[in-house]
Amino acid sequence: MEQTFLMVKPDGVQRNLIGEIVKRFESKGFQLVGAKLMTITPDLAEQHYAEHKERPFFGELVEFITSGPVFAMAWEGENVIAIAREMMGKTNPSEALPGTIRGDYGMTVGKNVIHGSDSPESANRELGLFFNNDELSSYTKQDTAWIY
Ligand code: PPS
Repeated sequence: MEQTFLMVKPDGVQRNLIGEIVKRFESKGFQLVGAKLMTITPDLAEQHYAEHKERPFFGELVEFITSGPVFAMAWEGENVIAIAREMMGKTNPSEALPGTIRGDYGMTVGKNVIHGSDSPESANRELGLFFNNDELSSYTKQDTAWIY
């Protein structure tokens, strides 16, 4: 089953949006298979955003993502990479549609609440950067006869 890496950025954590964001992906039907609140080191931030190293905002990006805790998550489900990107909305919140996470909560192109992998290759790379294998619990739903 496909997996992706999603992360509530420092602005989303500060604004108490973790629960709201988790709820959206759970309600859609995806499965949370790993999660942790953590503070990103500058070294990890530079690795994570390596593809943007030459861009003028790189310093600002690293400074922001290391400025406070983030909520790192691994999600699983059919086509989860592309569907999660749709649910997040465009990078710039002013262009993101209402109903998307950034459209509803994002403030600026930097403080846009959530990061999500954009391809299977980046999902694989980012999951490996943020999680050890023993931190991921991929599971099938149990017989739920005991839920009443
Ligand atoms: S995308 O989706 O990769 O095409 O978006 P892009 O515009 O290339 O932006 C990549 C990430 O950089 C962040 N960003 C910025 N941060 C701070 N300041 C400025 N000016 C800025 N511009 C872009 C943007 O939020 C993207 O972060 P992630 O975490 O990848 O969504």
